[in-house]
Amino acid sequence: MKKAFVVGHPIKHSRSPLIHGHWLKQYGIEGSYERIDVAPADFGEFLKTFPERGFVGGNVTIPHKEAACLGVDRRTKRAERLGAVNTLWREDGLIWGDNTDVLGFMAHLDRSLGQGWEEAVDTALIVGAGGAARAIVAGLQDRGIPRLLVINRTLPKAEELVRDLRDDGPSSLQALPWGDIDAALATAGLVVNTTSLGMAGQPPLDLDLGISPDGAVVADIVYVPLRTPLLAAAEARGLRTVDGLGMLLHQAVPGFARWFGVTPEVTPELRALIVADLEGRS
Ligand SMILES: NC(=O)c1ccc[n+]([C@@H]2O[C@H](COP(=O)([O-])OP(=O)(O)OC[C@H]3O[C@@H](n4cnc5c(N)ncnc54)[C@H](OP(=O)(O)O)[C@@H]3O)[C@@H](O)[C@H]2O)c1
Repeated sequence: MKKAFVVGHPIKHSRSPLIHGHWLKQYGIEGSYERIDVAPADFGEFLKTFPERGFVGGNVTIPHKEAACLGVDRRTKRAERLGAVNTLWREDGLIWGDNTDVLGFMAHLDRSLGQGWEEAVDTALIVGAGGAARAIVAGLQDRGIPRLLVINRTLPKAEELVRDLRDDGPSSLQALPWGDIDAALATAGLVVNTTSLGMAGQPPLDLDLGISPDGAVVADIVYVPLRTPLLAAAEARGLRTVDGLGMLLHQAVPGFARWFGVTPEVTPELRALIVADLEGRS
């Protein structure tokens, strides 16, 4: 029986066991996926010893993604570029790490908007400059969106992100102060909220979507609640919206495939299961 985990601190709110548990059952695989709470001081030891404890791999979440990136034996180019690892596995006796948040966000955009959506987007505005923003910027760079604008409450963090991720690809990447948000919104065909604003218990991200171009897409990676105030405002303005749950579901696919040998599907049933849990109905 193959065993996998999600490690974090705290970890009890993670939905990952529900996602992987659903797939294990759906594909009739004898395996397990468990939550493990590990404090930062003990994470290095955990990372080195998980194979001895019988695990084939697992997910890493807050606050261990950066430590995991530093501590693995080998990391993918994507993880190296982002400085964060969320998926671990063992290969040829070595511990490997990847970052699948990029794939999760892009797969969900593709599913929601249809392949080729990027051809209609000249400028994308990314609000926020934390770990998730880095993954999203990298994904949009890979698709060659010509102009990427990063706006953050704390400008130096946006500037640091730009310094770290700027590459020789076709996308120009620029950090802007919060005061420039309206000017940026007026040009952005894609707006992505990567801040924690709009999460249950937090104030909303209040944008003047009246100045967004018609046909713009508004994506939120916050998924509690599923319909954030920002998405509700975008719908009311007649803009297309992309919610945050799909990113969570799709980022789980590559890990499951590595650990259990089956590439699982993100189905309406899986989504409904997680939505029921988020809404306290399960
Ligand atoms: N859907 C998914 O699969 C998925 C995956 C990863 C993360 N997320 C969600 O994405 C959000 C960000 O995660 P993260 O890991 O990037 O967190 P993080 O590294 O802590 O970054 C948090 C970001 O939110 C901004 N922020 C926080 N409070 C703010 C406020 N009151 N006003 C303006 N900006 C504020 C921060 O700005 P400063 O730099 O100014 O502090 C920073 O840009 C969380 O809600 C998380 O749950 C979702």
